[in-house]
Amino acid sequence: MIRYDFTGRVAVVTGAGGGMGLEIATLILEAGGRVVMIDLKPEPADLPGDPDQRLYAQGDLTDAAFVTETINHAAERFGRIDYLANVAGVILFGKDVSLLDIDLDVWDRVFDITLKSMVHTARAAVPHMKAAGGGAMVHFSTVQCLRGDPAPQDAYSTSKAGVGALSRSLAMQLATDGIRSNTIYPGPSQTPMQDRWDSADKVDAVADVIPLGRVGTAKDMANAALFLLSDNAGYITGIDLVVDGGLLLR
Ligand SMILES: NC(=O)c1ccc[n+]([C@@H]2O[C@H](COP(=O)([O-])OP(=O)(O)OC[C@H]3O[C@@H](n4cnc5c(N)ncnc54)[C@H](O)[C@@H]3O)[C@@H](O)[C@H]2O)c1
Repeated sequence: MIRYDFTGRVAVVTGAGGGMGLEIATLILEAGGRVVMIDLKPEPADLPGDPDQRLYAQGDLTDAAFVTETINHAAERFGRIDYLANVAGVILFGKDVSLLDIDLDVWDRVFDITLKSMVHTARAAVPHMKAAGGGAMVHFSTVQCLRGDPAPQDAYSTSKAGVGALSRSLAMQLATDGIRSNTIYPGPSQTPMQDRWDSADKVDAVADVIPLGRVGTAKDMANAALFLLSDNAGYITGIDLVVDGGLLLR
């Protein structure tokens, strides 16, 4: 197991109220870092570390003013911002369908949450990262945007493809400021997002098509995110990292 030391570093993590975002925030807190946690959900119980290490902001990432105020307030309180993990996302099961049939309000809502929120967080965080002398970002896409799907969720997969494009653009624009930007493409993973897998049989059916023989976990994704944020990945920027147990090999 890699042991990280994030002492003195400050991370903004979106979607930190559950699933992968909560796992990333937890690992950074355990490694001595301070974390600004943003989510619609209330603050989870039993977070590790000292309460002074964290700032929990319950609110909507589609609200640019809320995002900017939260990140500016965190920078004032903690003195710096070093990392940004854009983890929040939604699948509106049953509503997010083919572009030929989708309600355009659903299309816009998915884009606002998944892609435009990344614009809000990056615009707010980058000036503080520059002031800190550099930093790192990791953004969450999905393997779904890298292949076709017989049951399309077109708003989700198209907005997630945009996440990768914006990440590479940020990587190019900010390299000379010492700010890295990378994207993780998770495969199917057991988190609150997939609470429709409500039996072992349903989980096993998904696992059956994954070469490594199991669905992903929040920890699998957090491990990848922590590496990309850490100084160990100091020469890695603009990459697309697939973390899917080999699913795309099929
Ligand atoms: N779980 C999977 O199978 C899977 C697969 C591929 C990609 N992903 C992606 O990984 C990321 C993390 O997913 P997860 O599985 O942890 O999902 P999750 O649903 O468990 O967590 C996502 C969090 O984002 C928050 N959120 C959603 N909309 C928000 C908003 N407008 N403002 C603030 N917070 C908001 C939710 O409240 C939730 O806590 C997402 O971007 C998701 O699209 C997940």
